[in-house]
Amino acid sequence: MTVVSKVRKHGPKVLLCLSATLLASCETVSAPWPSRVASASPADAALEARVRSIVAGMTLEQKIGQMTQPDIRSVTPDDVRRFYIGSILNGGGAWPAMNMHSSVGDWLKLSDAFYRASMSTDMPVQIPVVWGTDAVHGHNNVYGATLFPHNIGLGAAHDPQLMERIGRATAEQVRATGITWAFAPTLAVVQNPRWGRTYESYSSDPELIRGYGEAMVRGLQGQLGSSTSVLATAKHWLGDGGTWHGVDRGETRTSEANLARTHGAGYYGALRANVQTVMVSYSSFTDTASGQAWGKMHGNAHLVGGVLKQQLGFDGLVVSDWNGVEEVPGCTKSHCPQAINAGIDMIMVPDDWKQFIATTVDDVRSGRIPMSRIDDAVTRIIRVKLRSGLFDASPAADPHPDASVMHSQAVRDLSREAVRKSLVLLKNDNGVLPLRRTGKVLVVGQAADSLPMQSGGWSLTWQGDNTRTSDYPNADTLLAAMRKKLGSGDVDYSADGSNVDVRRYNAVVFVAAEKPYAEGAGDIKFPASMRHSARYPNDLAALDRVSGKGVPVVTVLYSGRPVAANDLINRSDAFVAAWLPGTEGLGITDLLLAGQSGNAAYDFTGKLPFDWPAGDCMPQHGGFQFARGYGLSLSSSSNLGKLPEAAVTMVCPAESR
Ligand code: GLC
Repeated sequence: MTVVSKVRKHGPKVLLCLSATLLASCETVSAPWPSRVASASPADAALEARVRSIVAGMTLEQKIGQMTQPDIRSVTPDDVRRFYIGSILNGGGAWPAMNMHSSVGDWLKLSDAFYRASMSTDMPVQIPVVWGTDAVHGHNNVYGATLFPHNIGLGAAHDPQLMERIGRATAEQVRATGITWAFAPTLAVVQNPRWGRTYESYSSDPELIRGYGEAMVRGLQGQLGSSTSVLATAKHWLGDGGTWHGVDRGETRTSEANLARTHGAGYYGALRANVQTVMVSYSSFTDTASGQAWGKMHGNAHLVGGVLKQQLGFDGLVVSDWNGVEEVPGCTKSHCPQAINAGIDMIMVPDDWKQFIATTVDDVRSGRIPMSRIDDAVTRIIRVKLRSGLFDASPAADPHPDASVMHSQAVRDLSREAVRKSLVLLKNDNGVLPLRRTGKVLVVGQAADSLPMQSGGWSLTWQGDNTRTSDYPNADTLLAAMRKKLGSGDVDYSADGSNVDVRRYNAVVFVAAEKPYAEGAGDIKFPASMRHSARYPNDLAALDRVSGKGVPVVTVLYSGRPVAANDLINRSDAFVAAWLPGTEGLGITDLLLAGQSGNAAYDFTGKLPFDWPAGDCMPQHGGFQFARGYGLSLSSSSNLGKLPEAAVTMVCPAESR
C-alpha cells in the first residue's frame, strides 16, 4: 500500500513513518496527540499470563462484579463477597460507621473486613477488593490527619520535588488506614476561575502541571507493590478545567489540538510516572476546529478507548466518576453500555450497584456490550491489582505505616513548609512585613480562628462544611499560630473588628475568606462578579472598621481561586494570597512575623499560578491586576498606590472559555 493510499485510507490523520523502509510499520497518529507515552511498567509476561488465567476462570457475573465500585455507605463486606465486588470507595463525608471521629484503627478494621470478604468468595481464584479514597490534600477524610495546602497553593510553590514528598507522605497516611488507592492528582488546567474546582488545579500553566503530575504520581505510587505505595489517579480525563464560563460539568469548547496541548499535558507526565488509574471527567467536549460536538466524556470512545488507551498506550484501568455515566444521553446511574463500550473499565456506582450489575450482565448477554470489552476491562483491573501487591496480603496486615504518620512532626513540618512556599505576597508597602515581635497585635476575621475555612472543601466532609475547629485536633489556626509565636497576652482577637480601638495595637492581621465549598457548589455562575467583596461584603465591612487608623493592616486571603480584591488591597498595607493552607497555620506566621533576631526568618517565594483579575469580570475581559508568575519577596518593596475600584458591579460580557 503506497503512502498516498494510506493517507487516503486514514484520512487527515498524520502518518508517522520513521523512513521509507518502515512504511509498512507506519502508525496512524491523529495529528495533535503524542505517540505512545513511555509507561514505566515493564512488560511482565508472567503477570500477564496470571491475569489471563484468572479471567478465563471467571463467570460473567464475577467479571461484572469486578467492574463495580459502590460507596461504603451502601455496601457491606458480605455484599462484596456475594456479588464479587471489585472495588469500594468512601466518598467525601463517608467514614467507618459514619463516625467522623473514627480512629485509624477503625479504618483499618473496616478495610480488613472488606478485604477478607472479597477473599472468601466461591471463585476459583480469589480477587482482593481495592478501596479508593479522595486523599487530595493529605488523607483529608480522616480525623486528626495533617492536611496539606490545596493544589492551587502548591502550584504557587513551583516545586515539583515538594510534590513528590507530599505524595509520599500522603501515601503513607492512606496506607496506614488500610486503603491502597488515592483519587489524586487532579490534572485540570483551569482556564476560568469561576469553576468551583479551581483550587483542585495546580495552575493554568500546562507545563507546570505536566511536571507536577509526574512528581505527584511518583510520590503516591512510589515502589508499586510496597507497603507504602498507593495507586494514583490522573483525573479528570479530559478537559475538566476548560469548560465555558467555568461551569462545573460543563462544555469544553476548544480544538482537539488545544485539548491535547493544554489539557493533556498533566497526563503525559502522569503516564511517564506509570500512573495506574485514570478517572473520566463529567465535562463534555466540542471540537471548535471541526465543529464536532462529542458530548459527555463518559461516552467518548474516541478520547477514552482511542486516544488514552490506544494512542497513548495507557494499560491501567479507567474509572468513571461518581454516577458520571448517568449524564451520557440515554443512560441512567445503573445502566450505561455506552460508557463501558467507550472504554471505561470500572463504574463508580455508589448506591445503585445491584441494578448496575443486573443490567450490565443483560447487556452482555444481549450483545449490547461485547464480551471482549468486558474481558479487556477485567484484565486491566486485575493487572492493576497484581501490580499493586494487593494479591499478596491484606492492606490491613503489617507491615504498613502506623497511625503516627497521620500527623507526625515530620508530616506537620512538611505541610508547614508547603504553606510557606504557597503564600504569594501581592503588596508590602513601606516594608510592613515581616511584623516585628514587639507590642500587641490584633487579629481580625472569623476565618482567622477557623480550621474549616483554612482548609476548604474536601476536608473531613465533601463540602468542608458541618465541621468545627475542634474537629481538627492536630492543627493550628492562624490565630493559634500567632499566639504560639507572640504569646497569648500580646495577641487579641475580634471576629469582625467592631467595638475595638485599633490604635492600641502595633499592627492588625485581618483574614478574609471564602466559605468552604467543593465542585459545582463553588461555581461563581456567569455573569456574577468575580469581586470577593461582592460575595463577602462582611469582609470589606470588617476591613473598613480596622483600616485607615494609622495602624498597619496585613490582610491574608483564604480563597480557592484568584478573585478581584482591589478594594481589599487598597485598604491593606500588605496583602497575602494564602489560598487554602490546611492545618498548619504556623506556616503563615513563619512569613508574617520576624524571627527572634528581628529579621525575616523566611522569605516569600510563592508566585501566582493564575492571572489575578482586576475587576468584576474575567481577566480576559476586565484585564488582570497581576499576571501569572507575579509575587513579591520581602526585599522587593512595593508601592502599589491606589488600585482602580469599580464604583458599581459590572455586568460581565460573555467569556470565550
Ligand atoms: C466526585 C469528584 C471526583 C471524586 C469522586 C469520588 O464527584 O468529581 O473527583 O474522586 O466524586 O469522591
